[in-house]
Amino acid sequence: MRKTIIAGNWKMNKTKSESIAFAKDLKNKIDKIEKTDVIVCPGFVSLCSVSEILKETRANVGAQNMHWEPSGAYTGEVSAEMIESCGCQYVLVGHSERRQYFDETDDKVNNKIKRALTTCCISPILCVGETLEQREAGKTNKVIEKQIKQGLEGLSHAQMQRIIVAYEPVWAIGTGVTATPEQAQEVHGFIRKTITMIFDEQIAEKLSILYGGSVKPSNISELLHQKDIDGGLIGGASLKLDSFVEMIEIAEQLSN
Ligand code: 13P
Repeated sequence: MRKTIIAGNWKMNKTKSESIAFAKDLKNKIDKIEKTDVIVCPGFVSLCSVSEILKETRANVGAQNMHWEPSGAYTGEVSAEMIESCGCQYVLVGHSERRQYFDETDDKVNNKIKRALTTCCISPILCVGETLEQREAGKTNKVIEKQIKQGLEGLSHAQMQRIIVAYEPVWAIGTGVTATPEQAQEVHGFIRKTITMIFDEQIAEKLSILYGGSVKPSNISELLHQKDIDGGLIGGASLKLDSFVEMIEIAEQLSN
């Protein structure tokens, strides 16, 4: 059985004090959550404080990015070891906004994942997804297959135990347009099939695949009902405590 994961990607939102206030409120609201894994991904400046508040709760903390080198003259960058020292257990890698605006290629994604796996405890969340243009040209599977194959190239079966994949169609991010549950399931099924081909069925069956793109309390339930959707990676609707908690509670109910 794969665990359900509800992850909030705060992107470039919330100051340190706003992040701390959110984490304190979240802590009080999730004390009855037992089956759902919760992840929040604040900005770098808030990672340490939010981790400290959420330790010993169901919620873990993830960074939104990291560099692929262990250390050195890379002004403005943050290493895997640095985020780990702040209590992070996850890191988003290859988010479409980073691919689009910061030239994050599949090669860089692969190097970041490999670097994250040299730490003791950080699990990379590999984000993949096609643009509207690619979907309309019938290239969705081809794009996803390339991102998955190159992103995970060279990983061992043991390392794959620490990987999470998030399918986020670019056309659904921040647009209010969600993929239908059928559209999302089709790609999630394809991702699992691709993982079976590269690794094996056991790895593929264990892999958690999250859906992201305009997920909100009103549509999360039908998405989570799909057999290959194991959770959500949520942007806008994770910024408000009420809607984030509501989605965690819906996931928890469905796990029963
Ligand atoms: P929205 O939920 O705002 O569409 O963002 C999705 C996302 O990019 C999460 O990583």
